[in-house]
Amino acid sequence: MTISEDTLTDSANDASLARSRARSAEIDAAIDADPTRFRVLTGDRPTGRLHLGHYFGTLKNRVTLQERGVDTWVLVADYQVITDRDGVGPIRERVLGLVADYLAVGLDPTRTTIFNHSAIPALNQLLLPFLSLVTEAELHRNPTVKSELEATHGRAMSGLMLTYPVHQAADILFCKANVVPVGQDQLPHLEQTRLIAQRFDKRYGRVHPDRPVFPRPDALLSATPLLLGTDGTKMSKSRGNTIELAMTADETARMIKKAKTDADRVITFDPDNRPEVSNLLLMASMATGELPETLAERIGDGGAGQLKALVIDALNEMLEPIRQRRSQLIDDEDHLLSVLREGNARATQQAETTLSEVREAMNMNY
Ligand code: TRP
Repeated sequence: MTISEDTLTDSANDASLARSRARSAEIDAAIDADPTRFRVLTGDRPTGRLHLGHYFGTLKNRVTLQERGVDTWVLVADYQVITDRDGVGPIRERVLGLVADYLAVGLDPTRTTIFNHSAIPALNQLLLPFLSLVTEAELHRNPTVKSELEATHGRAMSGLMLTYPVHQAADILFCKANVVPVGQDQLPHLEQTRLIAQRFDKRYGRVHPDRPVFPRPDALLSATPLLLGTDGTKMSKSRGNTIELAMTADETARMIKKAKTDADRVITFDPDNRPEVSNLLLMASMATGELPETLAERIGDGGAGQLKALVIDALNEMLEPIRQRRSQLIDDEDHLLSVLREGNARATQQAETTLSEVREAMNMNY
């Protein structure tokens, strides 16, 4: 690709990001006006323990949506981990651990539907008609699929990896969610989902003349700034720079004490020039609700030592009740299973209703 084409693509992306942001703000206002018009779906791959990035980036936001009265659906994407390169690990433990995380942070299973892929046949069946609506070239163009392919250094990619954006469309459309809280990186998946909804309507038509079988879902972009790891690079489990929700207070303190800072004793919030110090301030800010600038001023020339002490206190105070709930929950497998089974029953009913509408639209209802 030539430079000018790159630039063109970038500015097109900027424009489309600006549009997504504006639309996202509209949705947010509409939720305030009438939360009952919305159904939200989000999900996670059960790949291991959740960390602070997940908590501030998405989990907290889901709890807020639940509290605002939105019908919230949360998927444990267990069929999405089998696309991964390095195997699924102790999958059962991870699925139940994720359910424990959800409950510990405040998702309430009587209001929020918590379910998993492998338990919902009718959801997975949507993958077949949906695959008929996308081209192979489109699948190869998906940026996440492309970067996944690059990360495997030429190792063969599974068919499920190639098609997972379509499976993800089934996750969203089976329950007719009209809002999906996402990070920027997930916007192409949502666009793919909208295309599938639209193409289904065009190819197979409607069951009710006044509305398509599938609504076109909108993105709700997270307003939370991105948190970095304790070494100032992208927070990720493989880099060992995360604070996991399941860590003890001592483990959390140890991680923060190890965190990278700089030589300037005067603490200032300056993300461009002092990413590590600013990231620590951001962590404390998110945990306490105070502005990072205010916290920096309070520390003044107290140096990295005082900054770290403040971050440790802020995080541990916020995490303590979550940890307590999590450690009780994780010992009660029966309870975790019953939460999942109840959510799966609700999701199955919804998926079967949608699938019968799909069969009717496709003239395959015998
Ligand atoms: N792809 C998401 C992740 O990696 C998980 C996911 C699966 C999801 N299905 C979804 C997210 C549907 C939003 C909507 O975390």
